[in-house]
Amino acid sequence: MESPFKAEILKGKVGLITGGRSGIGFEISTQFGKHGASVAIMGRRKQVLQAAVSALQSLGIHAVGFEGDVRKQEDAKRVIEPTFKHFGQIDILVNAAAGNFLVNAEDLSPNGFRTVMDIDSVGTFTMCHEALGYLRKGGHGRISTSGGPILNISATLHYTASWYQIHVSAAKAAIDSITRSLALEWGTDYNILVNGMAPGPIADTPGLSKLAPDEIKIQAREQLPSFHIGDKWDIAMAAVYLVSDAGKYVNGTTLVVDGGNWLYRPCRLP
Ligand code: HXC
Repeated sequence: MESPFKAEILKGKVGLITGGRSGIGFEISTQFGKHGASVAIMGRRKQVLQAAVSALQSLGIHAVGFEGDVRKQEDAKRVIEPTFKHFGQIDILVNAAAGNFLVNAEDLSPNGFRTVMDIDSVGTFTMCHEALGYLRKGGHGRISTSGGPILNISATLHYTASWYQIHVSAAKAAIDSITRSLALEWGTDYNILVNGMAPGPIADTPGLSKLAPDEIKIQAREQLPSFHIGDKWDIAMAAVYLVSDAGKYVNGTTLVVDGGNWLYRPCRLP
């Protein structure tokens, strides 16, 4: 689908996207690039990372990839520093790296719980923490009045409760809290806007294939009148909005982009 935004809306910006090699992260990287930004993507596996970078470059996007695991502080540094060296600036950080699997609470080991907390919540904080010096406008180590923005990818699982997602619900709740705390502190100190986004079920993503096998999707469509699967494009457009100047007065919010799915209740009245 064609973008409703001007093609230069992110011109001259550099975005660093964790989990940028697949799913939502890759589409955000693509759309940032198509709107004028240069992008660095971070991922754990070199080979697939390189394939994603080549795909972005084939679209004419100035893209690089750096190997790293958001669970490791040294990896965060090892990705952020060369991104800055390569482009001379970092303007936008998107935390899209996530881990997930379906498991009931009884069978989930504490280490399984911790693994997802480490990737999603601690990883998000680590990346924000390590990138701060670069996101402050004026470059590393220099304090200035404007910088950022940061976008943290969350979910709606924890607004109520979700079956077999205790670890991810806890991790995403922590991300939403991190978003608000950083929006308060860094919004005040550095004018860095920190927002989140909570996608609903999005077609052709690792999340959907892991959490909703095809038979479940068909059932959901039949039983939930509001069930509507979104596209990666929907998420990327919302991301472009939030990190562009169009979103300059939005801070500390987590934008739900799910077509209203999370609101659904069966109607009990005739
Ligand atoms: C129960 C499991 C498990 C499973 C792993 N574990 N998979 N427990 N059921 N299916 C447990 C392990 O037994 C181990 O605990 C601990 O978790 C760590 O497992 P590892 O395999 O060593 O971890 P690792 O290799 O680091 O892999 C992390 C991962 C993996 C999260 C398990 O799936 C991954 O790398 N995922 C990244 C990609 C991904 O998931 N993307 C989807 C994001 S979707 P023990 O106790 O045995 O040591 C998404 C959507 C959000 O975020 C919401 C949408 C609505």
